[in-house]
Amino acid sequence: VIIIGGGLAGLNTAYHLSKGRRVALFSSATLEDSNSYFAQGGMAAVTASDDTPREHYEDTMVAGAGLCDPEAVRVLTEEAPKAVEDLAQLGMQFDSIDGHLALGLEGGHHHHRILHAGGDATGREVSRFMIAQVKGASGIKLFEHHTLIELIVEKGRCCGVWIWDGEAKHLEAYYAQAVVLATGGAAALYRPTTNPPTALGDGLSIAYQAGAVVRDMEFIQFHPTALHLKGAPSYLISEAVRGEGAYLLNPDGERFMVGRHPLAELAPRDVVAREIYSEMQRYDVASITLSLRHLDREKIYRRFPTITEELRKYGLDLATEIPTAPAAHYTVGGIRVDLNGHTSLRGLYAVGEVASTGLMGANRLASNSLVECLVYSTRIAHHIEGLPDTPMVYPTAIQPPICPHEGFDDEVWMEEKGRKLMKRLGKILMKRAGIVRSAKRLGKGLAEVTERLSELEVLAKESIAVREVYNRHLVAQLIMVSAELR
Ligand code: SIN
Repeated sequence: VIIIGGGLAGLNTAYHLSKGRRVALFSSATLEDSNSYFAQGGMAAVTASDDTPREHYEDTMVAGAGLCDPEAVRVLTEEAPKAVEDLAQLGMQFDSIDGHLALGLEGGHHHHRILHAGGDATGREVSRFMIAQVKGASGIKLFEHHTLIELIVEKGRCCGVWIWDGEAKHLEAYYAQAVVLATGGAAALYRPTTNPPTALGDGLSIAYQAGAVVRDMEFIQFHPTALHLKGAPSYLISEAVRGEGAYLLNPDGERFMVGRHPLAELAPRDVVAREIYSEMQRYDVASITLSLRHLDREKIYRRFPTITEELRKYGLDLATEIPTAPAAHYTVGGIRVDLNGHTSLRGLYAVGEVASTGLMGANRLASNSLVECLVYSTRIAHHIEGLPDTPMVYPTAIQPPICPHEGFDDEVWMEEKGRKLMKRLGKILMKRAGIVRSAKRLGKGLAEVTERLSELEVLAKESIAVREVYNRHLVAQLIMVSAELR
């Protein structure tokens, strides 16, 4: 089995499959560069005796604004407790108080049910833990700095992948009985974003071009509170900070969320992001204040050590007031999959942010994503394990997807042209397909991106760098076309 992507979804799929199958895990960077690694909040799962999967289900459905697939939500909320229990049994340490799991609260949840680790470093802790499991498993061959370029499809079946080896600098074809994409989302196409620069939708674009169905691409989630400070990156300030009681204040010092939603600052994320956007427009300001002055200072530092440390680099104190603004955070839609992670293309599976199980609806409930990675990757592994051992399929004739253009230098092109195009794409997306959209703005954005795609099309067959930039513009086009249709 080939797995592409070294975040939690890819790692967990690999780990579970390694007991019965030979697995190759490819990651375009190192395993520590995944988006999972940077997740702060945690994992939503029912573990408390006064909470039930049914209530987790209801909260997920409400956050999804009427567009969730009920069966996908039922599977997640019923299987999440066992998924985190299995992880704890393997040795993963979640934060606890007096021998009981410490449970956090985030937007849209009516119960404290977010398990966390290292305070605000859940993604890092769980990724490190799973990386160790994967490295210790004998059935997994690991390839870092190996990038997916194209899927190999024969008679309607995905039977392999073209991979670019970034160190040896060559293309190679690999074959497998099943290919699992765990390549993450596309929110880093936007500027600003809370995501690391690897979340550019490459896997999604490649699957779409191979014929896989994608859905709900218009639903990009904007996190309400990313640091907004000149000279600083758009660093995520976890929703768990509001879960501990932080207020959102407008320039008049008013808690504007009170009266706009019964959960005030802890309303579902799309509601909070839209209200912040409207306050920023009303006052013509670029940020809104996140205030923690009224909270216990020492408790805040203990609960959020990573955010505290990061803010100190910019002379800010988390226990006071932080300038924040919404930033692109999560790709809700993706490659359409069934409850076993199977896409519309035989032999191809998808899991994690690149996939759309339908459980997120129009807006993901906070901290449902890491747990989705666990639940659905385990299901994919069980499904693939249960498949009969069929002979491998090889294509009858095969051509490398990229034939290098004589004298063309990928690095120079990326430096001189590619970076500018990506910066421009980030701005187009935020302005034309941002938090609040109009047909007119979408139309303008779409026209520009479509023009760029036709300019890049020919060179994309001759250069890896151009192909990547092309792929990313294609994802932007999918987002805007889908938004227009919606
Ligand atoms: C956060 O910590 O606010 C992000 C958690 C999530 O995206 O679910």
